[in-house]
Amino acid sequence: MDTAARVPVALGSRSYEIVVGSGLLKHVGDLCGDLLPGRRVMIVTNPAVNRLYGTTVSNSLRRAGFQVATTEIPAGERAKSLRHAAGLYRAFLDNRMDRRSVVVALGGGVIGDLAGYAAATFLRGVPLVQIPTTLLAQVDSSVGGKVAVNLPEGKNLVGAFYQPSLVVADVRTLQSLPPRQMRGGLAEVVKYGMIADRELFTYVETYLDAILRAEEESLTYLVTRSCAIKAQVVEEDEREEGMRAILNFGHTVGHALETGAGYRKLLHGEAIAVGMVVATKLSVDRGLCEQRDLDRLRTLLIRIGLPVETSLDMKRLMRTIGYDKKVRNRMIYVVLTKGIGHVTLAEISDLGELRAAVRTTRST
Ligand SMILES: NC(=O)c1ccc[n+]([C@@H]2O[C@H](COP(=O)([O-])OP(=O)(O)OC[C@H]3O[C@@H](n4cnc5c(N)ncnc54)[C@H](O)[C@@H]3O)[C@@H](O)[C@H]2O)c1
Repeated sequence: MDTAARVPVALGSRSYEIVVGSGLLKHVGDLCGDLLPGRRVMIVTNPAVNRLYGTTVSNSLRRAGFQVATTEIPAGERAKSLRHAAGLYRAFLDNRMDRRSVVVALGGGVIGDLAGYAAATFLRGVPLVQIPTTLLAQVDSSVGGKVAVNLPEGKNLVGAFYQPSLVVADVRTLQSLPPRQMRGGLAEVVKYGMIADRELFTYVETYLDAILRAEEESLTYLVTRSCAIKAQVVEEDEREEGMRAILNFGHTVGHALETGAGYRKLLHGEAIAVGMVVATKLSVDRGLCEQRDLDRLRTLLIRIGLPVETSLDMKRLMRTIGYDKKVRNRMIYVVLTKGIGHVTLAEISDLGELRAAVRTTRST
């Protein structure tokens, strides 16, 4: 292994480690080692990721004594469906998987969520190893145990909290990531800076060029730091009963944009970028945060190449926000910022206030 950092996620009997570094894929077998109860492994991946990394991972697992099979699901958000979950159950049965068999999710957030959901529910739960290969999956979706599939009515409406046994984040895999995916993932890193770590925010400002060139040292720092922040939040509130909600900074409007735009048009990170601008504008309007922090955020997002504006119809956007899980009793729960690195949970009862903040991000 060239370099590796280990981020512990302390959740009692559900504790696990996130191993972050470059060149880790060929060591996956050793990293899994004795950690897992069974020797039968099903790698769930998609054709593109399988072509790039499937052989390295399966060879490494075989060398460590695992019996390995691979199932591919099509790329794209549409694969996060009950239909494809059922397809996975069938593949697990065909491969005679039992309760000790292991599901390895090799890919981005779609694979992680779908394979994670299938692992959480097959035989009431089999061990799961996450090998995230997008920046978004490395800093966010593979950590914390949220797994889900979509329904036609909305994203992530069926799911579970199901912690993996191990997460292996090999930043070298990000070198093959399309630039748009990289930029989308960076939105989540900026989010961690906004909610918890001014230094991380400044790091992205300072080393953006190296990060966009996928330099391993910068990426290892970003992923390790982001995972440490997420791990800390999840340790305090595993099932999102309180403070875990701070991870939703930018997500109220972000999710609505993703859904309203038909969630194949905007990447998750792109929607979150606009959502963070709206949340920060609301914070400025409420006197919680300085205008210069909003300016810094906008400038950084623009430099990354992320959108800070939306042309989505306002009525449609507000209607979609009404369907979001964060709306209860007609009160919208939002995460606001008290300046870069600090957040606070807040409620909005006056939709006009939200509309005014959204209006500042209109591109038409
Ligand atoms: N569970 C959670 O806590 C959580 C958090 C945030 C987002 N999500 C979910 O994550 C999903 C989005 O994940 P995503 O952004 O990773 O998208 P994705 O999984 O669709 O991956 C994006 C694309 O990149 C390709 N790809 C993956 N790794 C690659 C690599 N190393 N090189 C080249 N191409 C590669 C994939 O084939 C895919 O086409 C959404 O469904 C979202 O709801 C879940």
